[in-house]
Amino acid sequence: MRIDIITVLPELMASPFSGSIMKRAVDKGLVEVHFHNLRDYSSNNYKQVDDYQFGGGAGMVLMIEPIDKCISQLKEQRSYDEVIYMTPDGKCLDQSMANELSLKGNLIILCGHYKGVDQRVRDHFVTKEISIGDYVLSGGELGAAVLCDAVIRLIPGVLSNETSALTDSFQDDMLAPPIYTRPAEYKGWKVPDILLSGNTPKIEAWREQEALRNTEEKRPDLLDE
Ligand code: ADE
Repeated sequence: MRIDIITVLPELMASPFSGSIMKRAVDKGLVEVHFHNLRDYSSNNYKQVDDYQFGGGAGMVLMIEPIDKCISQLKEQRSYDEVIYMTPDGKCLDQSMANELSLKGNLIILCGHYKGVDQRVRDHFVTKEISIGDYVLSGGELGAAVLCDAVIRLIPGVLSNETSALTDSFQDDMLAPPIYTRPAEYKGWKVPDILLSGNTPKIEAWREQEALRNTEEKRPDLLDE
């Protein structure tokens, strides 16, 4: 997979990709991530990429021309499966969307900034609009990093068996069951006996039951779906 991220703040984007699982995926050659500074595509001496809204109103708007130049240049080099725009009014990211995107080849992610982008960018270039939750961030960069993390960890070969994504919360529209590690007893607080029993079928049944209980208690909406 190749991900091209278009942003006015490439320096903000680098750090989440420089450690942990995203870095491992890049180092293993399973994903390539490239950052593109939108200002490099500005046709103006001040590297301006935003302007006032037509019709008046507070907040600057990212202009179509530098975005067009950047996306068109990328598309001349390869084809892309999706041009994603990070925006609070997009479809809310969930596990099934992450699963679906992890199977794609090449993605462009456009990070909004200021008030957002000129609507014509959304109408003519963007194929998918994604939000990471019902709140407004200062820009799409952190959302793009969240999206990349959720997607990259699902690419086959990125996670080892021990960290397999198959047992993650949300994979079956359920939360994960509780987990424990050593010591088996700490300050009198014990790990459930069943987990120490070595009886795999019983442990699996317990986990399923606890996953259901967890989901009913914390996220009953998942069960309604
Ligand atoms: N940009 C600003 N707020 C956002 C959000 N909630 N999700 C994705 N991109 C955003």
